[in-house]
Amino acid sequence: MTNNQYPESVIQAFRRHTGSDPAILVRAPGRINLIGEHTDYNEGFVLPAAIDKAVWFAVSARNDDLLHFQSINFQDVYSGEIKHFNITEKRWPNYLLGTISELRKDGFLPHGINVVFGGDIPTGAGLSSSAAVESGMLFALNDLFGFGISRPDLARLAQRAENNFVGMNCGIMDMFASLMGRADHALKLDCRSLEFEYFPVNLPDHTFVLCDSGVKHQLVDSEYNTRRRECEAGVAVLKTVFPDIQSLRDVELEMILSEKKRLTEVVYKRCLFVVEENKRVLSACNALKNNDLKRFGELLYQSHQGLQHGYQVTCPETDFLVEHALSDPDVPGARQMGGGFGGCTLNLVRREAVAGFQEKMRVLYKEKLKRSLVCYSVEITDGIEKVDFDAI
Ligand code: GLA
Repeated sequence: MTNNQYPESVIQAFRRHTGSDPAILVRAPGRINLIGEHTDYNEGFVLPAAIDKAVWFAVSARNDDLLHFQSINFQDVYSGEIKHFNITEKRWPNYLLGTISELRKDGFLPHGINVVFGGDIPTGAGLSSSAAVESGMLFALNDLFGFGISRPDLARLAQRAENNFVGMNCGIMDMFASLMGRADHALKLDCRSLEFEYFPVNLPDHTFVLCDSGVKHQLVDSEYNTRRRECEAGVAVLKTVFPDIQSLRDVELEMILSEKKRLTEVVYKRCLFVVEENKRVLSACNALKNNDLKRFGELLYQSHQGLQHGYQVTCPETDFLVEHALSDPDVPGARQMGGGFGGCTLNLVRREAVAGFQEKMRVLYKEKLKRSLVCYSVEITDGIEKVDFDAI
């Protein structure tokens, strides 16, 4: 089912580590986000999709209360006790420990486990490798111990693991996409109600290509939290005039325009971006429904411009990549994707032109910015699933 080396190396490492087969093998994909950036924590709309890059988990229950984790990517192991653990300096085990910590808070009590995991989602590229790890781990534990937790509730738990244990104040988009993705479909999610709808991504002549800028800004976490606070500050001011507002989700463009003087320039720009980005998600869904590639591409570019000038979370490298992609007639749309300050750009590229596009971008990036560019074509896949490891 896959030509990826990871499921096999995860299973082999598991057998070496424990002397037996895992009870369960789980594939937990990363995600792209077609449009709707920084809207999830403002209770707005997002349009992500799960992709063919994933983390694989081999897991079994133990007869004691010990935790044995092995990371293939970090070539490292962690051992501890399920009833007493703290955040670790190694960092990678924290994504697993966080899920156990949140399960226990809700009264679900897994006992000891063996976990071997690894995969091909690049880290720091904005493809949500950490959400895939948290969601995949929860999915495996839910299955193994029969907790009966629904997928949307697993997404909430995974978000809490990231917020409370890892300490990153992210929204729910990434976990929801990993758990609820569907092959060849984008997932429109209302981040307030968690209602969702699948939109077929019927692009016979086009595909999505990611250009990984290789930039991983240290700033991401602190700037992310600052943006959240700026949005909250905007809501607090607007609420004094429009008391029914709970979040930027409830704000109309006219409200921001009429109250512009009461908002600082920065807060005004942030609010405007979020309100417009929410509208773009709804328009993008219509464009997908109508197979209107041109409109869809324009919306991607408008989103990038908003991220660059309004929300100010892009960087010179991703701006460069988007500008150059858009001067190519084979690319109807492009934008920076994810939390920001680097990571990948998402490019909608004519299928026949993909190889030429990737080569051109790599050469340009090297020539002008003296940096190496890694490009990936991505396919939209199903969300987290249990995999029959005899078939691998
Ligand atoms: C990160 C967060 C998400 C979302 C995006 C921006 O990926 O994890 O919750 O806020 O940034 O859209």
